[in-house]
Amino acid sequence: MNRVDNKVAIITGGGSGIGARTSQLMAEAGATVVVTDINFESAESTSQSIIAAGGKAMALRHDVTMNDDWESVIEETMLAYHHLDILVNNAGISGAGLPPLEEATLESWQTVMSINLDSVFLGTQKAVLCMKESGGSIVNISSIMGLVGGAGPAYNASKGGVRLLSKSVAVKCGEMGYPIRVNSVHPGYVWTPLVRNIVEHMEDDNITEEGLREMLTEKHPIGRLGTPDDIARGILFLASDDSSFITGSELVIDGGYTAI
Ligand SMILES: NC(=O)c1ccc[n+]([C@@H]2O[C@H](COP(=O)([O-])OP(=O)(O)OC[C@H]3O[C@@H](n4cnc5c(N)ncnc54)[C@H](O)[C@@H]3O)[C@@H](O)[C@H]2O)c1
Repeated sequence: MNRVDNKVAIITGGGSGIGARTSQLMAEAGATVVVTDINFESAESTSQSIIAAGGKAMALRHDVTMNDDWESVIEETMLAYHHLDILVNNAGISGAGLPPLEEATLESWQTVMSINLDSVFLGTQKAVLCMKESGGSIVNISSIMGLVGGAGPAYNASKGGVRLLSKSVAVKCGEMGYPIRVNSVHPGYVWTPLVRNIVEHMEDDNITEEGLREMLTEKHPIGRLGTPDDIARGILFLASDDSSFITGSELVIDGGYTAI
């Protein structure tokens, strides 16, 4: 089940957290994985962990906000493996530390939008161009914060944008007769560097990492935070042919956060 044998997958932000675990799980399920990250050393470390476990991977430095970087990543993937079957648009930032609504600037807004949403447009467009004859699956990582408010406006707007961009491209691929599925994933809180770092930017200096963890856990009816593996399993399902009738859809993996 959930096999991706002989498929080639690009996973952005693969050097850390959800992207790192997704890269490993995808390789365990048979895919050749192109692990990309703006932090090359972290991508290389994920790639090496895959190779050490007997899988196939390569690491590339990739700033997802840059069109030229996307072109090189696609070119290097095609040169090495000759096809692309799966793209996981995972790289993102929380926007913690950027000014709140009333002090926000156009620049601070655009920082979040370019990393979290422009990147998904660029990657999705390039993947569609590659996959339109051969077919494929594009999985875009949104958030529960793409479904409900509760984060900064730019983060909420960027992740809401990822949700509808995915639906729009899914419909367009259907209209064009391209055998490409496009879906979004909406994780609840997962204890990765992205979330841990929020504590440094909280107004209340007395809140510790453990305190933040407890506050966030309380919001998940299931009684715990998510793990990168919880999210990676959903991503693998959408990437694999097990989900062959699912497109334009959203997979919420949130321990019940949005059910309240
Ligand atoms: N952790 C959570 O609770 C949570 C919840 C919902 C959604 N998400 C989303 O999941 C995705 C992964 O988050 P994570 O928690 O694993 O974070 P993380 O910080 O552990 O990993 C994010 C990775 O993205 C990379 N990155 C950042 N900017 C980049 C750029 N411009 N180009 C290329 N790579 C870049 C970082 O170097 C890092 O390796 C993000 O899109 C995030 O918004 C996370």
